[in-house]
Amino acid sequence: MVESIQASLPDLRKWLPWAVGGYTRIDAIRYVRESVNAWNEHRAYDFAIRQPSDPDRHLGNVSIWWTSRQGAVGEIGYWLRSDEASKGFMTEAVAGMLRVGFEELTMHRIVLRIAVGNRASERVAEKLGFVLEGTLRDEVRVGDEWLDHTIWSMLSHEYDVHVDRFRAETWI
Ligand SMILES: CC(C)(COP(=O)(O)OP(=O)(O)OC[C@H]1O[C@@H](n2cnc3c(N)ncnc32)[C@H](O)[C@@H]1OP(=O)(O)O)[C@@H](O)C(=O)NCCC(=O)NCCS
Repeated sequence: MVESIQASLPDLRKWLPWAVGGYTRIDAIRYVRESVNAWNEHRAYDFAIRQPSDPDRHLGNVSIWWTSRQGAVGEIGYWLRSDEASKGFMTEAVAGMLRVGFEELTMHRIVLRIAVGNRASERVAEKLGFVLEGTLRDEVRVGDEWLDHTIWSMLSHEYDVHVDRFRAETWI
């Protein structure tokens, strides 16, 4: 994971605050510890993206977490290593997270937040059928810059409409 992040820093640090200051093995250990705690406490579920044909090569991470238990709302976040981009990996991985969120965690609404200008991430949302709701102003600080985020959602009954297409694409 460390090698994958380090090789992708120029792309990651455009959009993700945690990538701005570089990334070390210590950062990875902290991430994995928090990840295990969050999983055990049923707060968040982080997954590694790897191919069965090359299981030691880390391609990226995708996560789903609860933002409101009462409202049954979750959010998905992700990154993929730069030299494997635009091959459809993240669309497939996020479809997998939608299956987990709606079918296993019984969420009602799942959200993506995407920085304005991040076309690759918007394409992931569009291909999966997320609905664009609006823009949150200056929602994240990345380095010295405040970025607006667009917010995208899918509701459980919308997932029920998309799920046959996800299966036909062999995303889930
Ligand atoms: C965004 C990201 C996760 C996409 O992962 P991916 O595996 O490349 O996604 P997919 O291949 O499933 O789909 C990407 C789509 O964006 C398109 N795309 C890629 N770069 C693009 C660009 N600069 N402008 C327009 N479209 C672009 C691809 O062509 C593809 O669309 P298509 O299938 O219609 O051709 C990955 O690029 C990444 O990790 N970026 C840096 C971190 C990040 O932005 N994380 C998300 C924060 S919300």
